Amino acid sequence: MSYNVAIDGPAGAGKSTIAKAVAKKMNLIYVDTGAMYRAMALFMIREQVDENDAAAISGKCQEADITIRYENGEQVVYLNGENVNAFLRTEEVGNMASVTSAQPAVRRKLVELQQVLAAKSDCIMDGRDIGTCVLPNAQVKIYLTASSEVRAKRRYDELTAKGESCDLAQIKADIEDRDHRDMTRETSPLKQAEDAILVDSSDLTVEEVIEKIMGICERARR
Ligand code: DC
Repeated sequence: MSYNVAIDGPAGAGKSTIAKAVAKKMNLIYVDTGAMYRAMALFMIREQVDENDAAAISGKCQEADITIRYENGEQVVYLNGENVNAFLRTEEVGNMASVTSAQPAVRRKLVELQQVLAAKSDCIMDGRDIGTCVLPNAQVKIYLTASSEVRAKRRYDELTAKGESCDLAQIKADIEDRDHRDMTRETSPLKQAEDAILVDSSDLTVEEVIEKIMGICERARR
């Protein structure tokens, strides 16, 4: 049986940074499920599907073939044979992903892919429903969160460091909108699994969070 660590939490809590670091230290594969939902959203944007048209999203998603490969230790997402990694991390794609991921047809397709990956490899997988739906038997479940102020400030710093101009209040409003959508949707809403350990990173450095999560994983391995 493979060893699986599930990390769930809201946008901007630091899940991917932490999961990548823990994966390296524990020799696990890092599976970024948000990137799969983003690839699906990119497909919908390119196909000009209306985000309010649930039937169109459900129908169209059958035409998107999403696969994952690992190249030089990095997860690469292929959308109908094209490497789309470079297009996934925009605000437009993130916001569309939050809308299209609410559709059960989209979730069925991507959850199956995630479960196959986790069954064949020791991995740390991050997302919104990993501990509650995708990997209910994961050996470790973490719910990683931080206040929306802290998450917005981190995103703001990240964008300004890249030279992009942005507005802190707008970023915070977008994060809160996204939290609301992710937490209140009918299918697999974001919530802490009953057996998940809560880690609030608001007042912790990245190194402190990694240390905390490594400690939790090591205790579960014994
Ligand atoms: O983690 P992220 O920002 O890359 O995720 C983008 C969107 O995808 C997020 O708003 C909700 C959705 N998502 C999901 O519904 N379930 C997951 N397991 C991962 C992401």
